[in-house]
Amino acid sequence: MSFLKGLFESKSVSGIADLETDIHSHFLPGIDDGCKTVEEAVDLLKQYESTGIKRVVCTSHIMKEFYKNTPETISKAYGILQAACKEANIFIELHYAAEYLIDEHLEELIEKDEILHFGKNKFVLTELSYFTPFKAYRDIISKLQQKGYTVILAHPERYSYWHYDLSTLRDLHRNGVLMQVNLPSLAAYYGNTVRKHAITLIRKGLIDLAGGDIHNQRYLNAVINSQKDKAFGNAMKYNVFKNKLLF
Ligand SMILES: [Fe+2]
Repeated sequence: MSFLKGLFESKSVSGIADLETDIHSHFLPGIDDGCKTVEEAVDLLKQYESTGIKRVVCTSHIMKEFYKNTPETISKAYGILQAACKEANIFIELHYAAEYLIDEHLEELIEKDEILHFGKNKFVLTELSYFTPFKAYRDIISKLQQKGYTVILAHPERYSYWHYDLSTLRDLHRNGVLMQVNLPSLAAYYGNTVRKHAITLIRKGLIDLAGGDIHNQRYLNAVINSQKDKAFGNAMKYNVFKNKLLF
């Protein structure tokens, strides 16, 4: 009986480990609003590894007003974290890129060819303001695409200005922009409205990828909790999240 129970459980388990790769995180210490110290990042990554996740892309913010990161600040923090993980026997494969706020600063970086990307299709993680999207956001997305990058839009469920009209997201999606839902959204970390909207976007076929957007312990707890949500189970069952295919 206990053997049968074990068999049933092992078949029904479907969790964040099955994603293999988390493409959105703020583990790099001291350079944005994520982990403050390398010790905090190592502690979180150790816990994250125990969920079975295999690969993590560190995507520190690049926002001209708040986080003036550059490829140099990001790669330096990455080197420090990489060494500390080795020391702590953490075997998660770490990569680095950035989470770019779409604004005129990103446009300048595209002109200068200073874009951090990851994975096999030159993926670039982008985000929009939570208040109002930058006027020329479509032009900037097109410029990235013309340069051969595959644009990923982070947490579309969090842009409340599109909660009652999915046409813009649909149009972006049709034009090759991949959409990444935040797992904490499914655990109602940002409230119930965002959770419901995340579920709607998944049901409408507008989500391609999942990310933890982990900044600290609270986010990690929410990511682990998201696995209990029915929407997460359904998304895994129907192969909604394509994280495995990015590397
Ligand atoms: Fe983020």
